[in-house]
Amino acid sequence: MFTTDLLKGRAALVTGGGTGICRGIALAFARHGCDVAITSRKIEHLEPTADEIRACGARAVAKAADVRDPVAVDDAIAAVVGELGRLDILVNGAAGNFICLAENLSPNGFGTVVDIDLKGTFNVSRAALPHLKARGGSVINISATLPYLGTMGQSHAAAAKAGIDSLTRVLACEWGPHGIRVNGIAPGPIEGTEGVRRLVDDASREGAVRQCPLGRLGTIDDVSNATLFLCSDAASFINGVTLVVDGGLWLRSARILGD
Ligand code: HXC
Repeated sequence: MFTTDLLKGRAALVTGGGTGICRGIALAFARHGCDVAITSRKIEHLEPTADEIRACGARAVAKAADVRDPVAVDDAIAAVVGELGRLDILVNGAAGNFICLAENLSPNGFGTVVDIDLKGTFNVSRAALPHLKARGGSVINISATLPYLGTMGQSHAAAAKAGIDSLTRVLACEWGPHGIRVNGIAPGPIEGTEGVRRLVDDASREGAVRQCPLGRLGTIDDVSNATLFLCSDAASFINGVTLVVDGGLWLRSARILGD
């Protein structure tokens, strides 16, 4: 029934796991033997994905919780561990985003994205720590390639994602002694996601395909396969890295000669 037993016997929590990239990660975990809990602000985003996880033969838990609310996060983690009996893998994927130039962005608009992406990553990681400590584990923080460049209209998201990458490195050092590896994934534009649908217009999409050394946008499978690798024992000595999954796209923005 499972594709492999790569993560058999383990339990994962994926925030933002009802939709997009994180839904893909949750389903990939389930196909590789892992029980999966998913959270999001809206339960209606979670139930269909929880059914898909169960259809893979894994146990699923769907729990509505806003990662900005530490009390709701604590309750969700307690419920997940209560139902699945353990927690081995945490994927911090919940994110908010919109395009807005800094001069038009309100303090609350900037803060809202930082609260969801960066503070949410901290809130959930902190709440999961006691459970991850029990047997060792793996944390994956989803960031983006946005902060590597001066991506206009993305001051809020780029600052939040850069903060996430920094948090990944610090927690890798602090939590490594507990047998917990903390790594990140930085996707470029990924086909079929809400982010690309809303944030990337047709011209930018075509430009990205043209510039990408591999000649295409990423897929959700590209990201979930990289996540599987980092969570698995195949990555047992990898700690504190953020793995870029963008086909080499962002490197091409450094071109000077030729096109
Ligand atoms: C300017 C905006 C805005 C917009 C919201 N705000 N949308 N400002 N332009 N388009 C401002 C509001 O005016 C408000 O500030 C503040 O942000 C909070 O807005 P609310 O709607 O009250 O907040 P909330 O309901 O909590 O929603 C937050 C949200 C969220 C960030 C807008 O709903 C959201 O992003 N949903 C989309 C989720 C999503 O697509 N996630 C995937 C991201 S993809 P004021 O001052 O008015 O109170 C990603 C990777 C991108 O991150 C990579 C692409 C290549």
